[in-house]
Parts: sequence; C-alpha cells; structure tokens
Amino acid sequence: MAIHKKILFVCLGNICRSPTAEGVFRKLSSEYAELDLEIDSCGTYGYHQGEGADLRSVSTADKRGYDLSAIRSRKILPQDLNHFDYIIAMDVSNLESLKDMAIKHQCSVDNIHLFLDFSNQSNITEVPDPYYGGSNGFDDVINLIEDASQGLISELLDKKKSPLRNGS
Ligand code: 4NP
Repeated sequence: MAIHKKILFVCLGNICRSPTAEGVFRKLSSEYAELDLEIDSCGTYGYHQGEGADLRSVSTADKRGYDLSAIRSRKILPQDLNHFDYIIAMDVSNLESLKDMAIKHQCSVDNIHLFLDFSNQSNITEVPDPYYGGSNGFDDVINLIEDASQGLISELLDKKKSPLRNGS
C-alpha cells in the first residue's frame, strides 16, 4: 500500500540547505516504490525569492548525482503550515521561527521538526548555515542531509520511531 505524505524542508534563504535537502530527499526516496511523496522546500526569509539555488550547493549536489537546477527560492506561506505533514527545519533558529508562525496562525506545531532529529549517526543537532563559509561547509551540509534523509525515509516506512533523538 502506498504511503502518501507531504514534506517541506525549510532553511533561512532557501538557496543552500533546504534546496539541497529537497534534491537529496527526492532522489533517495524515489528508490522506494511505496513512497508517494510531495516534496518541497522554502525559506523563512524571502530575500532570495525567485532565485535558483546557490551555485556552490548546485555543484556539491551535482557531484553526488542530485539535480537542484529546477528549484527556485520561495518564502514560507501560512497555508504551508496546514498543508504539509512534515515541516522540517534545518536549524533551531528556523524551527523557532516556524513554531512562532504556527502559533500566530493558530496552526499545530506537531508537524514541525528539526531535520537532524531523524539522523541515525550525527551528534550534531543542526545543519549549519554554509552561506558565508568555505566550500567544505557545503560538503558537511550534504553529508548531514544524506544521513538525515535516510532516517526520515525509515520513519516514513515505519521502520523506526520518530523523531529518533527524543524517542517519542
Ligand atoms: P540557507 O543559507 O538558509 O541554507 O539558504 C543562506 C542563504 C542566504 C543567506 C543566509 C543563509 N543570506 O543571508 O542571504
């Protein structure tokens, strides 16, 4: 039986981390025929609205076989809060922004998660913002995202409890 879920990845600008998460997760999850997913990404900040992903993210993803070329930055909308089953923040700052927005719009916060809570291995709790750093930062980001994506896939397939880190 197909598993239908809607998943939204969220960072600040929607040009580095969340587009990478969208592209990586889209490809990795496509290997499971039972997963029928709507996958999207956005930012809590609209400054880069309409732009493609940062070229450093595009090239880091491309080297691993993930295509980010069709992704355009957009800012989160209030209606996203009820539409998506999983709203997944890259860091605590964006998690808090999303929860504030949900409370303001009288939406549930139960579908809002921190991405690395799905990670199997990482002791790091946040996907760090690579925007002002060197190219190593983009490799670190994609490593964390690949790992957490596998954890999220396991959660969707109901192999593991979620989120992994708080054991709930
Ligand atoms: P992202 O990275 O949130 O991973 O897309 C950033 C992109 C742009 C900016 C900050 C972070 N900025 O300040 O413009």
